[in-house]
Amino acid sequence: MNDNGYDTRALEARIDDRLRFARTKPPIINLAATMAFEHFTAIFAERLLADRRHMGGVDAEIAELWRWHAVEEIEHKAVAYDLFRDATREWRPSKRWFLRSYVMLRVTHQFLADRARGALDLLRQDGLRGPAAWARLLHRILIKPGMLRQVLPAWASYFRPGFHPWQRDDSSLIEREDTSSVDGLLAT
Ligand SMILES: [Fe+2]
Repeated sequence: MNDNGYDTRALEARIDDRLRFARTKPPIINLAATMAFEHFTAIFAERLLADRRHMGGVDAEIAELWRWHAVEEIEHKAVAYDLFRDATREWRPSKRWFLRSYVMLRVTHQFLADRARGALDLLRQDGLRGPAAWARLLHRILIKPGMLRQVLPAWASYFRPGFHPWQRDDSSLIEREDTSSVDGLLAT
């Protein structure tokens, strides 16, 4: 992105701030936050692979990298979840559910706010600002193709007691992807 002239300093500074904040929290809170982020990446990945419109107009090489990343996110989607369940096995189920749900709400709020600011920051560098930039962003995430609208039911399922990431089995999406060229790049 920097090679293509984008200034990503503000975007990266925000991520650094979040990481600094995370380091002040106990490990179990960080694990719960990781688990919430992994749910986000998994449900976005599922949509990215299932609905080709999300990569519409994207450079072929970049689209392939995103599909590879999506496969990888689905593959490990339950790792943090299973670790959390193991780490809290002595807890009452209600306490576990409360922490999982509370952290998910906090993460969702932060994630949406940070990503919106980041996207608007990049759009501004493309010459789009103000209501025009907001309209473009909201149209893309809520209407067409509407990634955020599409993941809403899967996001909500996280709050169901007894939820587990593999209750939604999207392994068939992974199997049909050919990730050999990115795998090859990484192997070199
Ligand atoms: Fe991940």
